[in-house]
Parts: sequence; structure tokens; C-alpha cells
Amino acid sequence: MATLNLGSSIPVPSIKELVAQPLDTVPLRYIRDLDADYPTAAAFPGDSSVQLPLLDMAKLVDPQYQEIELQKLHDACKNWGIFQLIGHGVPDESLKAMHKKTQEFFDLSPEDKNQYAQKPGSLEGYGQAFVISEDQKLEWCDMIFLKAIPTHTRKLEFWPEEQPRNFREALHVYSHDMRKTAVSIIGFIAMALGLDFKDFREVFEGGNYDVRMNCYPPCPEPERVIGISSHADLSGITLLTDCGDIPGLQVLKDGRWVFVEPITDGMVVNIGIIMEIVSNGVYKAPYHRAAVNRHKDRFSIVTFCYPSKKFDIKPAKELINPDSLALYKSFTNDEYFRSFYERTELSDDGVPFIDTVKI
Ligand code: OGA
Ligand code: NI
Repeated sequence: MATLNLGSSIPVPSIKELVAQPLDTVPLRYIRDLDADYPTAAAFPGDSSVQLPLLDMAKLVDPQYQEIELQKLHDACKNWGIFQLIGHGVPDESLKAMHKKTQEFFDLSPEDKNQYAQKPGSLEGYGQAFVISEDQKLEWCDMIFLKAIPTHTRKLEFWPEEQPRNFREALHVYSHDMRKTAVSIIGFIAMALGLDFKDFREVFEGGNYDVRMNCYPPCPEPERVIGISSHADLSGITLLTDCGDIPGLQVLKDGRWVFVEPITDGMVVNIGIIMEIVSNGVYKAPYHRAAVNRHKDRFSIVTFCYPSKKFDIKPAKELINPDSLALYKSFTNDEYFRSFYERTELSDDGVPFIDTVKI
């Protein structure tokens, strides 16, 4: 039995440093066989099959529009598992401040950033995600991963302090804004599923929020590498904001990769595996990945929203009856994360985690 790998990561070079020198071709460790994957959809105007759903929180809270908007939410979660959200109420200053601090962080010198580097046995801090073997293919992405809520989970040694100035304040405010949005959205998702929305709001009010800030530097051969490889999120739901208008996020829809175009002042919401389980598969956690581009840095901020540790992860009882049996196993919070981390250590069998939580 291999030892339990609680998200430790082998240090690999920073992409920012890699591209600081002139680079015509990409090192072999980053080259993927992307042709073997699904094709990328070429969106053209009027093709609704590649148009991500757009939800408006202002309508969800407005009694006049709520019913129609709830139906749209249900369809979006069912057919896509991902949607754009506007009217979310997060103050512009909060978004702008966090976007600015994220860019400033990645623009620091390697020495300054490395003060916050991941340590063996922990995924938190600055570095790369889940590099567990020396011959593993690498992703074209630098990141800093921080637990933000509850505040006692923060490991401040990984939180940039003097530079960028006020980074900590910005992340404190931003993460609480994201929690507020997550609690509202989860309430409406519960409502759309016919579950007790007050319970779900409470469970996410007392939940855990981890923030991952990503930097995707320009790449001389963008079509041969991947920023983040295809995955479904472990979260309940995930909230993503783009720090600019450069597309990168792609979602797998009907066998094609569809670009999620950033919209000004909007955010992207996706269903995570926890809510797929809770909904008993009515909603699916979509596979998504990040593509990179030839010309510009792209930055994204991803907030993973988890239910309270006391919440058992299992199909909601309201959705289970003789005509609709449980399709997913039941887990305590601990069991869920253990089963994931045990797998990343051992999963060379190609079976995705989501398949292991099904009955
Ligand atoms: C993630 C993720 C996509 C992006 O961090 O889990 O899917 O576009 N990021 O940054
Ligand atoms: Ni993701």
C-alpha cells in the first residue's frame, strides 16, 4: 500500500522563468498529444450548441423573474454544468483589487515568489499542482494556492505579505465576497433541485473556500501544450474570474472543447463533483481545461467552494425513491477527500475519480 499523498508536489521550474529567456520551441516535458483528445469547437454566431448559458443573479432574487431564471439555472446545470453569471453583486473594487494583486504577484522576481513556495507535503503556496512523478507531463501554468475561509485554516506563511502591497487584504475581502455569491447560488441550485435551500445555504455559509490564482504565460507553441489538463473539480461549486479578456478556459460539451469567453464584470460558475453526487447525477461536474496562447499572459482566480466539514457527501434523500435509486456512494467529508488523494497517488489505471464515486 502506497503512503497517503495528501497533495504533495515535486517542485518544477516556473513557466514565467522558462519564458524569460528566448524560446522558439517548448521543452519535451510540456508537449502533449492533444490531437488524441477531442476537437475544439469553432463557435460561430447563432450556434447555440456552443453558447455557454448566461444567468443573472439580479433576476434570480427578483420575484418577478425568479421562476423563469430558476428554470434557466436548472437547464444550465443539467446540460452544461457550467455557466456565466452576471448581476452577482460582488463589488467591482473587490474584483479589480484582487485581479491587480494577482498580476502583481506573478510579476515579482523568482526570489520574491519563492518565499511562498510550496513545501513538501503541502499543496499550499506558490508552485505547480500535483506533480507527483519526475516523468509526468507538465502544465503551462504557474499558480499560488491558498486556503482562505474559515480564517483559522489560513497558512499565512504562504500569503504574500510586503509585496504585493495589500495582497492579503484584497484576498480577505475577495474570498468573503465569493462566499456570499456561492451561498446565494447554492441556495438557488438547491431550490432548482427541489431541496431545502436554507440547509444548503447554511452548509456553504460554514464551508471551506480555497483560492487558486493561475498565471498562464505566452507560449511559442500553444497548440502543443496545456495550461491545466482536463479535469472535473472536487468542489461543491467553483467560481472563476478572469483578470482580463483573454480566453483560455474550455469546457467539454458533447465531445467538443468549447471556449468560455470572459465577460466583463461576469464570473464563471461550475458544478463540482460534490454537487454532482448530491444531485444524484442530475447535474454533472463538467470536464474542463485551460488552453494557453502565443502572445499574452492570462491570469485567472478560481475559488473552490466546499460544504461544511459536518456535511455528508451523498445523494440528497429527496432525490432518491424506488424509481430513482442512488447512483453515487455516500461519504463523510474525510472519506471523500481521502478517497481522492489515495487515488491521485495510485491512479495510473486511467479511471477518473468521478467513476470511483459511482455505485
Ligand atoms: C482550475 C481550473 C481553469 C482556468 O483551477 O481548477 O479549472 O481557466 N482553472 O484557470
Ligand atoms: Ni478546474
